[in-house]
Amino acid sequence: MASSFGAAQVLVASNRGPVSYEVADDGSLRARRGGGGLVSGLSAIGPEAGALWVCSALSDGDREAVRRGVGEDGVRMLDIPADVHADAYNGIANSVLWFVHHMLYQTPLEPVFDAEFRRQWASYEDYNRAFAEALAQEAARGAAVLVQDYHLTLVPGMLRELRPDLRIGHFSHTPWAPPEYFAMLPDDIARQVLRGMLGADRLGFLTHRWADAFTACCERFAGGPGDTEIGVHGLGADADFLRARSHEADVEERITALREEIGEGRRAIVRVDRTELSKNIVRGLLAYRQLLEDRPEWRERVVHVAFAYPSRQDLAVYRDYTAEVQRVAEEINERYGTPGWRPVVLHVKDDFARSLAAYRLADVALVNPIRDGMNLVAKEVPVVSDGGCALVLSREAGAHEELGEDAITVNPYDVADTARALHEALTMGPGDRTDRTKRLAAAATALPPARWFLDQLDALRGGPASH
Ligand code: F6P
Repeated sequence: MASSFGAAQVLVASNRGPVSYEVADDGSLRARRGGGGLVSGLSAIGPEAGALWVCSALSDGDREAVRRGVGEDGVRMLDIPADVHADAYNGIANSVLWFVHHMLYQTPLEPVFDAEFRRQWASYEDYNRAFAEALAQEAARGAAVLVQDYHLTLVPGMLRELRPDLRIGHFSHTPWAPPEYFAMLPDDIARQVLRGMLGADRLGFLTHRWADAFTACCERFAGGPGDTEIGVHGLGADADFLRARSHEADVEERITALREEIGEGRRAIVRVDRTELSKNIVRGLLAYRQLLEDRPEWRERVVHVAFAYPSRQDLAVYRDYTAEVQRVAEEINERYGTPGWRPVVLHVKDDFARSLAAYRLADVALVNPIRDGMNLVAKEVPVVSDGGCALVLSREAGAHEELGEDAITVNPYDVADTARALHEALTMGPGDRTDRTKRLAAAATALPPARWFLDQLDALRGGPASH
């Protein structure tokens, strides 16, 4: 497969890398490899490509690994000072850029771009520069560099200055804000972000909607996208991996345990998310409560299985949001629960095998984000579903561009309509459900991670060379 992009070296850059380290009680370092689309995409190009993944040390264990010179082949972890990383990651990437692209601000009071913001922005520049310098140092002549996400928007421009010979791509896994919302950023910062990105030969987005929003921002703030190419690559689910993994023994065990929690003969409305503010878990619970109000015939006959796994817990607003999810779930259980029926089964501890178990037994999948780059859960459920699953899907999820026709579409803010959609999903006829699940699975797997990655590489190498 490496031949599809010739012999040139490939580098990937992202904040979070494919491996993390923990210091064990005896002082030794324990490595944990992560999964996800990028990891499987990268593995597809084969070891002969000499691919290198540049990422940041995120934890004390990671920093210790860098200091001890412990590492994995093909991974270079950058020991960025913890305070610089915290400013760049928590302060700018997650509290400003993530909020802008997902349109999450409560605008009467935020954002406030003050001296503290400027101080954190300087750290974001340092952190991006550390990546650009490491990539410049590691890349062979003519290598292809694929930079990932909103953490690293300045890297393409910085790297271009250092190494004009490289082919530079950047991929956004998030939505992109429309120009009216992006305009909240101070003008010089808005321009700096766009010009940083436009240092790339090619920019990738998950949907046309996000690509068009980026182009519109460039037109308003940066005189257009210039000769940077813009492409759309809708990352799909990894069917082979998911189907095999979801039939392993640990998943079967969890199916048995979950069936017990749900109770004999009951339907399951399943959601699985990292608890990000954009996932809209609270309104999902409110919609379920509305369903139990509007349609009392569902009481005792349905369970909402909600997995809300921790994310970005350094940020108070994320911790508060998790607490609110737990509070609303408890409130529903207290208000409607009976001795033999717990209406909401909420789990907050990450367990991939249990997620797959829930995917397999779901009657309805609820995916109702306020805004989402793609949302892979919407694509994974139909692939592993045992008996067919109706999908209630937000029109604001990137996945809606590909799955909308066979999903039940909702406006994520409209709780009453989401309750109606849940009822529609629960009452969908078995034939319709099976047919739709098959079509959803086909659409969801149209671009598997390996192909997604190789397509970008091919396009990057075939695009305009001049800059
Ligand atoms: O899901 C969008 C995304 O930007 C991914 O590309 C990325 O892996 C993740 O969010 C970042 O999350 P975290 O802050 O946990 O590293």
